[in-house]
Amino acid sequence: MGFLDGKVGVVTGAAQGLGTAYARALASEGADVAICDVKPEVSAVADEIAATTGRTVRAYPCDVSQAEAVRGFADAVLRDFGGVDVVVMNAAIYGSTPLDLSREEALSEYQRFMDTNVRSVYLLERALAPSLVEREGDIVVISTDHVLPPVQPGGTRGGPGSDLYDASKWVLNGYIQAWAMGFAANGQNVRVNGLGMGATDTPMLRGVFPGGDPPEDVVAGWMTPAQQAQLLLDLLQDGRTGDLIASEPGHPVELPPRSDLGQPVSNMPHEQFHHGLMGLEPAIWENPT
Ligand SMILES: NC(=O)c1ccc[n+]([C@@H]2O[C@H](COP(=O)([O-])OP(=O)(O)OC[C@H]3O[C@@H](n4cnc5c(N)ncnc54)[C@H](O)[C@@H]3O)[C@@H](O)[C@H]2O)c1
Repeated sequence: MGFLDGKVGVVTGAAQGLGTAYARALASEGADVAICDVKPEVSAVADEIAATTGRTVRAYPCDVSQAEAVRGFADAVLRDFGGVDVVVMNAAIYGSTPLDLSREEALSEYQRFMDTNVRSVYLLERALAPSLVEREGDIVVISTDHVLPPVQPGGTRGGPGSDLYDASKWVLNGYIQAWAMGFAANGQNVRVNGLGMGATDTPMLRGVFPGGDPPEDVVAGWMTPAQQAQLLLDLLQDGRTGDLIASEPGHPVELPPRSDLGQPVSNMPHEQFHHGLMGLEPAIWENPT
């Protein structure tokens, strides 16, 4: 079967896009999988993956921005599957948050982004950590290339209008680093890594274009969810911890060498990747010589 035979995977936000691809990849390697989403389509996704892989795949309606719903999801998964081995924290919202929002709108948007993209990850980790420790599992946090060093000095990979989305993903770096170090310091073999991809063809990215219909030549330059799912499988077999693994269109989507430092690593050539933060020198993410 596969290298995940007998394991249990969890993927949040799996009704479409990357989450569906991650869930399918875990099941195709032999894992039973629990998936959740706010969208009811998640049930059909579970049925389809179960039918094509022969694994047990269960869908749970869950709004991860709600603390009690996250707890309920985690409890249901532990009850139904007996434990977890791989948790992919994938569910998130994207959108622009213009500077001219009213104060009321700004507060509401702040809460929405932080509850969905940040607090949910924290709460799910807290709920599933005991099982992950017992079964020596993996946490994979889905980030974005917006938090990586800019492509050009003086440039940025973040969006000029997406302060809350970008800020929410920066917070995840704190989780990845602290959890990776914390489990290791306790002698607990739970690996924690992030995947921070550039443009990948999903409903989220298509939705940025008018009518959700990007030009074909633009889409042709994007990475695919299947490529990202393979990267997840490669990561799970690699055994590293603490890395934020970047992948950019136009380069092979493959696992870069380990940093051994718990730092961002990329599929881009080293000289294109390590410009430092926001174009400032010296490069704070430069590997030591
Ligand atoms: N597509 C890209 O180019 C890209 C680039 C960088 C990072 N990402 C990240 O990849 C992950 C997946 O993105 P995608 O492109 O597949 O997006 P998507 O919008 O196509 O899918 C996200 C899924 O999460 C679900 N979701 C949203 N809010 C939820 C909530 N409160 N509770 C439960 N489920 C919820 C949505 O219903 C949807 O099914 C996200 O973390 C995103 O930030 C995507």
